[in-house]
Amino acid sequence: MSEIKLDKVHKSFGSVEVLHGVNIDIKDGEFVVFVGPSGCGKSTLLRLIAGLEPITSGDMYIGEKWVNDLSPVDRGIAMVFQSYALYPHMTVYKNMAFGLKMGNQGKAEIEKRVRNAAEILQLTPLLARKPSQLSGGQRQRVAIGRAIVRDPEVFLFDEPLSNLDAALRVQTRLEIAKLHQELKNTVVYVTHDQVEAMTLADKIVVLHDGNVEQIGSPLDLYNHPANLFVAGFIGSPKMNFFEGRITSIGKGQAAVKLADGKETVVPVEGAHLGVGGKLTLGIRPEHLELEVSSGGPVVGGHVDVVERLGDVSYLYVRANGDAPFIASLPGTSDVQPGTEISLGTDPIHVHVFNENGNAITNARNPAL
Ligand SMILES: Nc1ncnc2c1ncn2[C@@H]1O[C@H](COP(=O)(O)OP(=O)(O)O)[C@@H](O)[C@H]1O
Ligand SMILES: [Mg+2]
Repeated sequence: MSEIKLDKVHKSFGSVEVLHGVNIDIKDGEFVVFVGPSGCGKSTLLRLIAGLEPITSGDMYIGEKWVNDLSPVDRGIAMVFQSYALYPHMTVYKNMAFGLKMGNQGKAEIEKRVRNAAEILQLTPLLARKPSQLSGGQRQRVAIGRAIVRDPEVFLFDEPLSNLDAALRVQTRLEIAKLHQELKNTVVYVTHDQVEAMTLADKIVVLHDGNVEQIGSPLDLYNHPANLFVAGFIGSPKMNFFEGRITSIGKGQAAVKLADGKETVVPVEGAHLGVGGKLTLGIRPEHLELEVSSGGPVVGGHVDVVERLGDVSYLYVRANGDAPFIASLPGTSDVQPGTEISLGTDPIHVHVFNENGNAITNARNPAL
């Protein structure tokens, strides 16, 4: 079994603490993605799991084992990095076999494992080539093959697609997803790209400045972001935020005056709200629509730019009295730049955040 548990893990470099007490439970066979902006501590966390860096305090378990003091080779893990780090003078075959040879595996066993990994990754016709004769995507597959041949309990990936162009990124992403369906190993995968996280993960861990902001399935995070950070990070184009002040409070709901002077009623929970208090309403671009009859908030402004992508049109709107926002309308919109526009949304799509940026209501799930 290869579940992973991090319990109050702190990490400091010198006097600077970069991870501030991280708790994560990863189940056996789960595909978990750590996502967050550059510098938030993703790679550091992965290196701690790999045993490449010691943790400063807290506990870490892989399977039944307490691994704080266990060396990397004894942890049953294999790591794939952003830079493929292949040996340029060795063939694909030798690159994949190298680690096993160093580990004193028998020749027949090495051959079997390399051929098997090459089959899975469609590298068989390329085994005799050198890395310089491969495309970026093929090189990354060799790097993954080098991890597969070791038959690890746990795969660790650190931004493995970052050096690939857009088309190859999508293709290799699919290959990694298929690989996991086939091998069913535990995977911990680091990326700053929320689309990769949404498409690959069973479970996403959102990191920000060395803290875990939220852990959940991709759709949990999309539908029920716990705070403004997660709300703004997950989803593309990102969620729009509208600031407002509470003008009155009733049972389970509050009237909010938005920056443009319009009032709207939103469901709220929590005892710490008072008239005059600040709330932020979050509405995803894809939940804004030109019809405004649904009883939800209405937002409006001046259309600066319209981007028509065929299946969808993005409207960039300079709001009346508030920050600019984006509306994503299905199909080819005939809205023209330079016009004034009003957009509405169904109340079930409104996220409400308190003064501290924490979600107090998501109307799809009032019990949040
Ligand atoms: N070896 C190190 N020594 C000092 N600081 C480091 C070291 N490694 C990482 N850091 C710092 O830790 C923070 C997190 O870095 P990192 O884990 O690489 O972030 P990410 O992978 O999310 O971009 C950054 O502020 C970085 O400068
Ligand atoms: Mg990193």
